[in-house]
Order: sequence, then C-alpha cells, then structure tokens
Amino acid sequence: MSLPADVYRLYEGLPQQGPGSDALTLEALRRLGPLPDAPRVLDLGCGSGRQTLALARALGGRVVAVDDHEPFLRELDARARAAGLSHVIETRLGDMGALDLEAASADLAWSEGAIYIVGFERGLRAWRRWLRPGGLAAVSECSWLVERPGPEVRAFWDAAYPAMGTIARNAERARAAGYEVIDAFPLPASAWWDGYYTPLLARAEVLAAEARDHAALAEAIADVRREVELFERFGDTYGYVFYLLRRQPVSAGGDGRGLRAGAEAHLPPHGSGGGLR
Ligand SMILES: C[S@@+](CC[C@H](N)C(=O)[O-])C[C@H]1O[C@@H](n2cnc3c(N)ncnc32)[C@H](O)[C@@H]1O
Repeated sequence: MSLPADVYRLYEGLPQQGPGSDALTLEALRRLGPLPDAPRVLDLGCGSGRQTLALARALGGRVVAVDDHEPFLRELDARARAAGLSHVIETRLGDMGALDLEAASADLAWSEGAIYIVGFERGLRAWRRWLRPGGLAAVSECSWLVERPGPEVRAFWDAAYPAMGTIARNAERARAAGYEVIDAFPLPASAWWDGYYTPLLARAEVLAAEARDHAALAEAIADVRREVELFERFGDTYGYVFYLLRRQPVSAGGDGRGLRAGAEAHLPPHGSGGGLR
C-alpha cells in the first residue's frame, strides 16, 4: 500500500478504521455458531485492531492479525499489551492477498471493512485455502441494501467501488468462492457514527489547518467529508453487511493463490475503508 504518509495521519490514533463495534463483532461471532476451543484465528486487514482485541477476549485462541501498514500494527501491539492479551495476539506485516501461510491452518478467517481491497470474491477465494475444511469466515463488506439506488448515490459508488454488490449478489459470490452462507446481517447506522465517523471527523477538524499546506491531506479530508455527507443522505440504500460463511470442501474455481491487492476498488471511500489501501 503506498499512500502519502499525510493521509495515514487522518486514521492513526483512531479507535478503528472502518464501521463496526465490539457488540457487532460479538453478534457476528454468535451467529457463526460453535468453534473449537481456543480456535486459530486470522484477522485480515486488522488496522489498529479494535475487532482483534474483541475476538481475542471472546475466544481465548491465538489471533494472527495482518495489515500492511506497520504503524497500525504497533498501535495494536500497544493495545494488546495494555489489555493483557499480547500472549494471544500476533501482529504480522503483510499483504492480506498474498500471505505465506500454511494451508488449512485456521479455524476462523475474520475481516472487517477490508476485503474490498482485494475484491469480495477474490479475497474469499484466496483466504479459503488457509481455512481447514468446515472452517468459518466472517467478513464485513459495504453492500447495496436496495436493488435500484438513485442516480447520485449510484454514480458515487460506481466511481468508488464499481464491484459493490447487493446482499444476494455477494451471497452468490461467496458460494462461487466455495463457502456456504450461514447468515448475513446489515450493520446499523450507529456502527458508522459512534466508533468511526465521529472520531474521524474530529480528527479531520484537528488536521484541517495543517492541510492547507498538504494537498494530499486536504484531498483526503475533503473525501471524508463528501463520504459522510453521502451517508447522511443515502445511508438507507447502502451499508456494511456482515457475511457469515463456512468453508465448503470444494470451490467452484481457483484458490486465489498469488492474488495481490488492489483489483476492485478505484477510489478510496473510507466507509468501505477506502483511503487505507
Ligand atoms: C478500512 S481499514 C479496516 C481496519 C479494521 N479492520 C477496522 O475495521 O477498524 C482497512 C485496513 O486494511 C489495511 N490494508 C490495506 N491494504 C492491505 C493489504 N493489501 N494487505 C493487508 N492490509 C491492507 C489498511 O492498512 C487498513 O488497516
């Protein structure tokens, strides 16, 4: 990932880098159903690890948390130490689409707000090989909540993330990638505001004066404000959805070996985690 360091400054030090909450992480875990004791977990595109900590606390197994932005991993290390969870959280710097991991070595693959970076179906195909047969996956993804969104919101997302699917379309993609769909549920608007947009807008405010001399930062702040405004107006037509999946024995296509990030999203809308790719 090669964003100007300025742009990262908008996101560093925030409680999380995308929509979600601990309560919703736990709700997704509950809906997934039983896992083995002390499951082996991968958290892909973990950011500074809000959900990593929630998973480690809830599951008691080892969580390998992967991100390609090292400062987020250092934040997560510090949070894990403070929470007394360092012994179960391993941070790993790497590309979530091309990790050197043993096949079938994980019981659970988790990813909040990050799979869009490699593409929903391609990411699921790539991650499938790291899951043991019958292993589980939970992925949150920005999705259309209506079949026919209006032209303005459609135009925004067609430019930002043309591959964004409806829940039905993403369920089809998950099945094509070799998963059974256990459940899917949309995140409420509070998942965007409470832990994400509200602190992000406050941070943008703090950095606004400095941004006058930093074009990339100024552009990133303007993008965030545009995206928040869009969400205020059209947040009933799109939103984050948690997809809860079980790895099937046979996939419909390739396993995504060698997949690299950056295929599907064009612009960085942050609701879809966009600036951070
Ligand atoms: C929208 S953030 C979500 C972070 C976290 N899951 C959360 O919800 O707070 C997306 C994350 O993916 C990371 N990322 C982007 N491209 C990546 C890649 N190719 N491999 C691993 N991580 C990547 C970014 O650094 C960022 O932390």
